[in-house]
Amino acid sequence: MNLVKPSKPVTGRVVANELCMNGKSSSFVKHLTIDVSDTPLAGTFRAGQSFGVITPGKDEKGKPHKVRLYSLACPTWGEDGAGNVLSTTPKRLLDEHRPQRRGDDSDNHRLFLGVCSNYLCDLNAGDEVSLSGPNSKRFLLPVDPDDHDYLFLATGTGIAPYRGMLEELLNAPGGPCKSQIHLVMGTPYTSDLLYHDYFEVLATQHDNFHYHTAISREPLPDGRRGRYIDSLLEDKLNEFTPLLAGSRTLIYVCGLAGMQLGLFKFLARHDLDGDYCERRKPLDGLAPEVWTPEQIKRGIHPTGRCMLEVY
Ligand code: A2P
Repeated sequence: MNLVKPSKPVTGRVVANELCMNGKSSSFVKHLTIDVSDTPLAGTFRAGQSFGVITPGKDEKGKPHKVRLYSLACPTWGEDGAGNVLSTTPKRLLDEHRPQRRGDDSDNHRLFLGVCSNYLCDLNAGDEVSLSGPNSKRFLLPVDPDDHDYLFLATGTGIAPYRGMLEELLNAPGGPCKSQIHLVMGTPYTSDLLYHDYFEVLATQHDNFHYHTAISREPLPDGRRGRYIDSLLEDKLNEFTPLLAGSRTLIYVCGLAGMQLGLFKFLARHDLDGDYCERRKPLDGLAPEVWTPEQIKRGIHPTGRCMLEVY
């Protein structure tokens, strides 16, 4: 970790920057590949880690931009098989200003563009980019991947690390991992699914890999409204109970912090939470249905079998 500090970044060179949504969408998400050959980052990152990007120029206070972390979307051996080309999945942040604090201009609702995400999405092949890292020591695959089964949960760009991990598990040079692997991807619309074709192909090639999508703003075939990841787990309880009750299963959660709320409530409701988290004081005597986000934050402590990367 932290082989390259943000104060002394190294220079990578963009290889390609391509949209990776599933058709026309109101959001813009890229698969960005960057060559880091001949830097300390080459060959030293691992699937599931992140790296830092330092946007050139100064912020509105005249200070250099702070480092921003992006999840790797590639396996440990990189996009090139030799650890020289890393990748990530930046999404353009487009939003409106809204008053946050007392004194903020309540009439200001002008367009706001995320600095680093739009910088990355604008890059072209050949452009240079300042990088640091690698970062994160917990959101990693286990040392012996065959010893475990996996439930991977993602919302939006939280899918990035799983692209790398699945490549590592299923397209390993020594042959594919035979464990049960379930990926659940949550997006607003079908067109927002990321790397969708890649996961569909993997699922046709590997009987042990199961790809599920939870689309929140499109009705289900039976007329019910769209669903979040935890509702999909509930709907497919018969499929997920044996996986979650298994003694070798690991849960990975990457994406919106709110996703934890539904997940931990779902696990507790079915008495499946014990191996994945410890419940502490604020939750004593309370039914899962009434847990609040704040209580979950203080009262749920993930064990080594539950990896969280939420924002
Ligand atoms: P929605 O926005 O319809 O409420 P993206 O990052 O591309 O916007 O996708 C995030 C996805 O996660 C959306 O489908 C969003 O639904 C969904 N989402 C929002 N809040 C939660 C939550 N608490 N638990 C699970 N999924 C959520």
